[in-house]
Amino acid sequence: MTTAQPPGLDLSYKIDDFIAGTRRDSLYLYRAIEDTMVDLATATPGGRVLDVACGTGKQAMRIAERGCYSVGAEASAEMIGVGRWIQPESRALMVRSIAESLPFVDGSFDRVICQGSLDHFADPMAFMREAARILKPDGRVVIALANFESVSCRAGRLVDRAKRRLGRPRPPWRLYWETPEDHNVRGDLPYVRSLGGDALALDRLWGISMLWLFSRYGQALDLLPERAARTVWGGLDRIARRRPQDADMIISVWRKPEAAAWRTTG
Ligand SMILES: C[S@@+](CC[C@H](N)C(=O)[O-])C[C@H]1O[C@@H](n2cnc3c(N)ncnc32)[C@H](O)[C@@H]1O
Repeated sequence: MTTAQPPGLDLSYKIDDFIAGTRRDSLYLYRAIEDTMVDLATATPGGRVLDVACGTGKQAMRIAERGCYSVGAEASAEMIGVGRWIQPESRALMVRSIAESLPFVDGSFDRVICQGSLDHFADPMAFMREAARILKPDGRVVIALANFESVSCRAGRLVDRAKRRLGRPRPPWRLYWETPEDHNVRGDLPYVRSLGGDALALDRLWGISMLWLFSRYGQALDLLPERAARTVWGGLDRIARRRPQDADMIISVWRKPEAAAWRTTG
């Protein structure tokens, strides 16, 4: 008899594990998420910001450039090493540590951010509790998570099923709506809404980008003049903001429950 094993910690993520799209639908999306995270992280001028599972620390370094005290926490020594090699002069501090047990004292950060990483964690709820613990009373936790129930994923699955019915063989690679092997959870809107548990209260939530990776959408954007491509992408992004259930990425902002209670009673 085999028993299900709890997910293990991934301490050896490699730069090659990160497969980045090169078409405009990917490039605009990456840029929009990064800008959103950096803007939200630096809302308190000179504040203390922690980027959890920061990878190479790209965002942590941009945050440091804006005058914040910026720390990146990351499990993989390789990712930290690549980041330091690319930007040795950055003032961002990179700390090898795991999201589920962060080596920082209580109430020490204005912002805790986590971009595209929570679905890799062995225990995302343990991370959320840790984020709440190290957050200042008035601080915010910001999570960006891929939505595997986006309109693009749902439509992709439908088209794929139709192709199979027509006898077309399944490609040997992972299809974009399938959960990657190195993910321990599958992000979608109900999952994101459940993340706070008893530790954090939801402040606001919205979507970014729509139709990412769908069929020929990326190719079509690449064929358009830059301005027209941006207009199409921007129009879909505005819809995604109001319809996070259909968006490619979901941004959620969290605060301490006591801060929420103060807001409603104070
Ligand atoms: C897809 S990458 C995202 C990196 C970065 N946030 C970005 O947006 O470029 C996921 C990262 O999560 C890190 N990671 C996975 N599990 C972790 C854990 N339990 N604690 C800390 N980092 C973890 C991996 O090492 C990897 O660098």
